[in-house]
Amino acid sequence: MQVKSFEEYQQVYRKSVEQPEQFWEDIANNFLWKKKWDKVLDWNFKEPKIEWFKGAKLNITENCLDRHLEHNGDTPAIIWEPNDPAEDHRVLTYKQLHDKVCQFANVLKNNGAKKGDRICIYMPMVPELAIAVLACARIGAVHSVVFGGFSAQSIADRIKDAECNIIITADGSHRGTKEVPLKSIIDDALVQCPSIQKVIVLTRSHTPVSMIKGRDVWWEDEVKKVETQGNPDCPAEEMDAEDMLFILYTSGSTGKPKGVVHTCGGYMVYTGYTFTNAFQYQPGEVYFCTADIGWITGHSYIAYGPLTQGATSVLFEGIPTWPDAGRLWDIVEKFKVNILYTAPTAIRSLMSFGDDVLNGKDFSSLTKLGSVGEPINEEAWHWFDEKIGKGKCPIVDTWWQTETGGFMISPIANVTPLKPGYATLPLPGVQPILVDENGKEIEGNGVSGNLCIKFPWPGMLRTTYGDHERCRTTYFATYDNLYFTGDGCLRDADGYYRITGRVDDVLNVSGHRIGTAEVENAINMHSSVVESAVVGYPHDIKGQGVYAFVVSPGKHGNEELTRKDIMMTVSRIIGAIARPDKIQFVSGLPKTRSGKIMRRILRKIAEGDTANLGDTSTLLDPAVVEEIKEGAL
Ligand code: WTA
Repeated sequence: MQVKSFEEYQQVYRKSVEQPEQFWEDIANNFLWKKKWDKVLDWNFKEPKIEWFKGAKLNITENCLDRHLEHNGDTPAIIWEPNDPAEDHRVLTYKQLHDKVCQFANVLKNNGAKKGDRICIYMPMVPELAIAVLACARIGAVHSVVFGGFSAQSIADRIKDAECNIIITADGSHRGTKEVPLKSIIDDALVQCPSIQKVIVLTRSHTPVSMIKGRDVWWEDEVKKVETQGNPDCPAEEMDAEDMLFILYTSGSTGKPKGVVHTCGGYMVYTGYTFTNAFQYQPGEVYFCTADIGWITGHSYIAYGPLTQGATSVLFEGIPTWPDAGRLWDIVEKFKVNILYTAPTAIRSLMSFGDDVLNGKDFSSLTKLGSVGEPINEEAWHWFDEKIGKGKCPIVDTWWQTETGGFMISPIANVTPLKPGYATLPLPGVQPILVDENGKEIEGNGVSGNLCIKFPWPGMLRTTYGDHERCRTTYFATYDNLYFTGDGCLRDADGYYRITGRVDDVLNVSGHRIGTAEVENAINMHSSVVESAVVGYPHDIKGQGVYAFVVSPGKHGNEELTRKDIMMTVSRIIGAIARPDKIQFVSGLPKTRSGKIMRRILRKIAEGDTANLGDTSTLLDPAVVEEIKEGAL
């Protein structure tokens, strides 16, 4: 599946466009199927309907686990580094991971889980998180992992939307010096969630918890029961290629987060293929992705993609800056990491600690680097290249999305000539196109426009859970017959792609997607807020910061306290990741006569670019702009 030269890439790419079905069929033949497909692809972007490998039967966990047992059973599948460096790390070989997944799959069955059930997972970054995810897939249950930083309200919203009947969590987690009482957050969420029948709780932090009789059970007790039942195996449920594998909620420009749905066959083929090809993974290499399994990067490139390829994947519970800003480098040295895949925000944050932290660290094992989640600025690119890669490691800048399932535009390590800040070229099978506002294709090079994809790829989303129409309007209705990414993009004179950032009302804060409407809704729930408008502004470390303009007559009591109260409200409603960096109190928002907030103006003010606000003549009350400009933070 790996292309070995740039010429080969060009040939393979051409074939993938001319004969996409043949191309993907050849790739799919590298995987383990219980039954092969009747048809490679059936699609239209109108409804949309996308079906890959229709009629095929498989279980993704047989590809991630069973098929490695014979020759690579003793190869480490997961190397786990705990939050506290004083605690022992753990290694799970493919054989051990297989056994634990089967065991926990039986725990799920004992607790009433069946094929098709939706199971929510809210856990720290411990091996049991990967085990829980794979155990769901083993029995054909659909997992919905919620990142450990989300609030009780966000969890409740997701559980209700997916009608989950089981939730898997832990007593608590440690991230740096912070303790997060996961189970207690779950208890708050469950007040609103009658669909949940069982809560399975892993012991991790020994935080005191309240266990409700009949509903809450300990992970360890349940595993013991399975052990005494003496049936360690759990046959893999036979799944249809288009059966749901998981739901992952992500933010859009309007309303509540939507549940992006990925299915078994296409997602498996796509993550496995893109992982091995883009990173040119070689047997024996140690691969370390610093993301959390709670995000798509962790799903596709800590768990599924690498495991389908028999890779050794490092899972890290902590944060890059604790106990000090050298933590990632210590992990690289400790496990002789060969491939390091991280985010620009982490790179910028570590850069800010200065280069002394790097002294004495051994980076010699590294051969390939990767970046994901947001545009990487050139300064960060060069620092990563020189200080970490020592000028000898290609940087694979992977552009993709929760919805795409896997890498779309990305260099292939040691194959694609690089350009700092560029995701470079589409991977085989990916057909990007730039369009103007009217959906007209912008041809040629040295152009920019809105990035769309014009042909399906196996890893693409199939629907948004419970609301197919929302999937259609969000991604397939903006432009006829195209999947719209929401990103702006430049194609330079050489045909290289550089993603310039979102063109919709989605922010990218530290590589996390946050919808402005979601943050506004949370702010507006505060009793002293009349209305608000949220925009992004350039932030040195986070890429983008959250800037909130808030109309709050009640602020006069104590402005600073109101500001903190609002931040607290956002943390409670969404989670700390969405907390505004700046809150400016204003007497009114700039609106058109029809009542629409002119975000363009607010964006400029937030960016500090007030000299040229453009046309304000359509504003209902132009004076408000002057006031906002003067009070800008
Ligand atoms: C942005 C994360 C520039 C982009 C995998 C996209 C990037 C959004 C890159 C998806 C990159 C992701 N260069 N921008 N290499 N990778 N993005 O769904 O705006 O959390 O639309 O998926 O992140 O974020 P998501």
